[in-house]
Amino acid sequence: MQPLSSSSCATGPHPPVSTTWRDRWLDWRDARLVNPWFRRWAMAWRWPRALVRRRARSLFDLMAGFVYSQTLLACVRLRVIEHVAAGPQTLSHLSALTGVPEAGLERLLRAACSLELLQRRDTGAYGLGVLGAPLVGDPGIAAMIEHHALLYDDLRDPVALLKADRPTGRMAAYWVYANTAQPGGLSDAEVASYSALMSATQPMIAEEVLQAIDLRRRHCLLDVGGGEGRFLQQAASSAPHLQLMLFDLPAVAERARERLTRAGLGRRCAVHGGDFVRDPLPAGADIITLIRVAFDHPDERVLAVMRAVYAALPTGGEVVLAEPMSGTAGAEPMGEAYFGFYLMAMGRGRPRSPDHLARLLREAGFSAIRLMPTRLPLQTRVMVGAKSS
Ligand SMILES: C[S@@+](CC[C@H](N)C(=O)[O-])C[C@H]1O[C@@H](n2cnc3c(N)ncnc32)[C@H](O)[C@@H]1O
Repeated sequence: MQPLSSSSCATGPHPPVSTTWRDRWLDWRDARLVNPWFRRWAMAWRWPRALVRRRARSLFDLMAGFVYSQTLLACVRLRVIEHVAAGPQTLSHLSALTGVPEAGLERLLRAACSLELLQRRDTGAYGLGVLGAPLVGDPGIAAMIEHHALLYDDLRDPVALLKADRPTGRMAAYWVYANTAQPGGLSDAEVASYSALMSATQPMIAEEVLQAIDLRRRHCLLDVGGGEGRFLQQAASSAPHLQLMLFDLPAVAERARERLTRAGLGRRCAVHGGDFVRDPLPAGADIITLIRVAFDHPDERVLAVMRAVYAALPTGGEVVLAEPMSGTAGAEPMGEAYFGFYLMAMGRGRPRSPDHLARLLREAGFSAIRLMPTRLPLQTRVMVGAKSS
């Protein structure tokens, strides 16, 4: 086998010659970083060595990421986090609770400690760690961790997925509306499992959205793609004066109707079933939310939904777009790497930057578009646009 050298790669068209100072600096830096002599030199000095160690750790974490997530999955499946949330537990007690022999369980617990999911106490018992603690009492995170088993199955051969015209794996079958021409005809059985997942994970998103927007002067909120109505339930308690409406696929809308009626919101909330790409949205709301909706769809469908939202709003009405966005400072891999691959496995959606979404909103007719501050932008960012004429 030929060693991979720069000459063996140079068979295709030549790459563009760097012209900016930044590009020239990056070329210079890369040439140093791949040079074995430079690497030996860097390891000989304190500051460069610290940097090399940090980079080596980051690269190792990238390589080992699957093992880390499987450790997390095992902790969730065996309910280890729940067990230790009640108080630190010994290995033998956890072994009895989980049904895993001590030898195997100890391996898991030590791995979980190294990942800060658990923390060993001085007594030798295992207690919660700083990364395990947020999982307690949040069924949404546990549901997402379980759900990732589908995604990782599809990502077993990432190159095949990248080359495919359309995804055909487990994620595509799960997110069935993203892969059918007639989503309006989906049955309850087809929407039940994703709707339950969205419902379980909605509370943490709703909290962020509701603290970012001002509902005091609004009288009716329509949640488009509102799932089982979990967001509306939270909006109802944070703004008791507000009338509520929900629009989703007919089978999902039926689930929302049942949930909202059970929650005592049947009279306050009008539920509509339909396809937001084909059917007009109901009029009457002066604020319309699209929460975790746009990123599921290609640009032309997002534009169609935004135009439908614009048509349904009165002058002075507002659209609220809430979802994770690419290019979020401090959370860059979440957008391009995580959601990039997640949405590819799911169908035709994509993560978008705030600029991209703002461009689509402007094209749909909205103005005064602004990004509202959220406390945890990793989970969701919130963009608002107004219908001014
Ligand atoms: C990712 S889920 C988000 C649900 C909810 N907004 C949340 O954040 O929990 C997207 C929602 O959009 C709905 N949806 C997808 N395509 C639709 C369409 N063409 N017409 C109406 N609703 C649609 C789905 O049924 C689903 O409830």
